[in-house]
Amino acid sequence: MEISYINGQFLPHEIIRISPDDRGFLFADGVYEVVKWYGGFFYDMESHVSRLKRSLRELKIGWTDPDRFPSIANELIRLNDLDASYALVYLQVTRGVARRTHYFPSPDVTPTVYAFAWGFTPETIPEEKGVKVMLKEDIRWSRCDIKSVALLANTLSFQEAYEKGMKECIFIRNGVITEGSHSNIFFVIDGTLCTHPESNFILSGVTRKNILRIAKEEGLKIKEQAVSENTLRSCQEAFITNTIAEITPVTDLGGIIIGDGIPGPLSLMLRRKFDERISALRG
Ligand code: PDD
Repeated sequence: MEISYINGQFLPHEIIRISPDDRGFLFADGVYEVVKWYGGFFYDMESHVSRLKRSLRELKIGWTDPDRFPSIANELIRLNDLDASYALVYLQVTRGVARRTHYFPSPDVTPTVYAFAWGFTPETIPEEKGVKVMLKEDIRWSRCDIKSVALLANTLSFQEAYEKGMKECIFIRNGVITEGSHSNIFFVIDGTLCTHPESNFILSGVTRKNILRIAKEEGLKIKEQAVSENTLRSCQEAFITNTIAEITPVTDLGGIIIGDGIPGPLSLMLRRKFDERISALRG
């Protein structure tokens, strides 16, 4: 039986109910996090907790217990017998339940906290293969730094990519590449690793941050600088990153073939180094 978490209780998933007046339902007034379980540990849970705190702060949602996220996540793994598997834990916090008004409930209501765990088999992209992604105008709002559950622009864009058999939709805003619908993107241009700087136009990805750290440790040249759409033809490598898929090489970017259509050496090296960090944690 699948067990999920709601407002302080671990319950069978199918009996969990929320109010139709939940502001998450009415306004997408909430935030979320996704963490990955590697059959024994979560990777960089600390960064996910700090990003959760920041998202809550930015939306002024007063959940007082974000430090409970690790224990809720661990308990969900245990209760669902996922200890030895790969799994993800999703946690969502909304402002809570109140009659629909555009101002926040006054006085404050108790936030709704919901979490679930899913076991999964990682999709491995073979070393010799990369993925095709689509390019599209960034139709999202200008607070993409908040991990908000308001993801309609992301899902609409990703659906378009999905229907075309592509693995991600990469956004262009004001002529530069920002990120994907659910990933960050890196490029290698003249031997330098380039990615959009932290700003309100991208989510500060935990994987992005860890890849930049590894790249620095490996002595790569790094530029946290936006890449313009016009320079894509001169990039030698590209890859997307997120918590679940880690590093996925991109070989076709909106019809532009990258690196002769095969994953490049720096992308593969960073993938290997990331795997080594995970293996080291397995002990
Ligand atoms: N998405 N950018 C966006 C818009 C994202 O939604 C995500 C993650 C990322 C990568 O962040 P991280 O490396 O911290 O996972 C970047 C998650 C996986 C999701 O929505 O399911």
